[in-house]
Amino acid sequence: MTGRELRERFRERFGLEPRVFRAPGRVNLIGDHTDYSDGFVLPAAIHLAAWVAVAARPEPAVLAISQNLADEYAFSIGNGEARRRGAWTDYVEGVAVTLGKAGFPITGGVLLIDSEVPIGAGLSSSASLEVAVASALLANSGQAAEPLELALLCQRAENEFAGMRCGIMDQFTACFGRRGSALLLDCRTLGHWLVPLPSGVRIVVCNTMVRHTLAGSEYNRRREDCETAARLLGVKALRDVSAADLARRAADLPEQLARRARHVVTENARVRQAADALRRGDCTAFGSSMNESHTSLRDDFEVSCAELDLMAELARRQPGVYGARMTGGGFGGSVVSLVEDQHVNRFLDEVTAGYRASTGIAPDLTICHAAAGAEEVLG
Ligand code: GLA
Repeated sequence: MTGRELRERFRERFGLEPRVFRAPGRVNLIGDHTDYSDGFVLPAAIHLAAWVAVAARPEPAVLAISQNLADEYAFSIGNGEARRRGAWTDYVEGVAVTLGKAGFPITGGVLLIDSEVPIGAGLSSSASLEVAVASALLANSGQAAEPLELALLCQRAENEFAGMRCGIMDQFTACFGRRGSALLLDCRTLGHWLVPLPSGVRIVVCNTMVRHTLAGSEYNRRREDCETAARLLGVKALRDVSAADLARRAADLPEQLARRARHVVTENARVRQAADALRRGDCTAFGSSMNESHTSLRDDFEVSCAELDLMAELARRQPGVYGARMTGGGFGGSVVSLVEDQHVNRFLDEVTAGYRASTGIAPDLTICHAAAGAEEVLG
């Protein structure tokens, strides 16, 4: 669905003229499970987005209708009764509550939502929804926030209301994405640099179509592991540990925490090397870093799963593939691959057939284009 179609649907259904906002999903090229340790990440916003059409209504309540999920939910504003429901609506109500607490009191409205970002695919469907909803609710209440504030408020909504202790990568990317570029983000300073994607290669996302239960609780547990390791090493965050420090101090940590720390420390180094490689157009070096990242996430951080490992393996076997790795939080979701242009069609056919033959599951493969961050859709 395009913004124009959503606007039309809104007019037909409510007889009102809405404003329309979009916020993109993201694919992380490298740097997973580093953001909440103040580390480095290299994501790109993608062409798949969450769309929200909004118009005011007189009652102090929000009616949110999801077209893609065929569900709707109404809640009152500011009555202190908002509770987590464990559903998509948490991202809407959580954003409304968080905006109110942060000094952006919102007014009543109706939201018509349509998202193209697949749920559970590791492409940030929740962050894109949060950022699109926040943009719509703010505009509907005659307010605005700077993109950085918007990203931080949406992260807070997810941490405090939805109960997922995510880092800043996804919401930041949904706000700051740039067409044709990846973003190198320092998650401590929130400084970021655009890294243009080289021509002649494609970013292909291969959704395994599996999402293991426990993904949320395991995510929070990994974050705790990193916080404990940092405390034991006497630093603010694992970002402050160098490879040399870790080699000297690893024996001070329980074995599992030492592996968690090693992932974060080596991944931070890989992100910076990979960003340099991309700037030089050295796809071979970039792909090697991607492959090493997957191994580290699988063995040291233990957030991969059999289906992701198989998908990465199948991808790497194809001609013209520089590298492949799981992307996002893990425990299911997607593998991202960097594939030479002229090999991409064969890649799509072979990986689809190979994955289906091994698992009986039809995967979903998408060529992703780096897109712009959240914006109001005019016209
Ligand atoms: C999820 C979280 C992000 C990040 C990734 C892993 O997408 O929302 O903050 O931690 O997992 O890199």
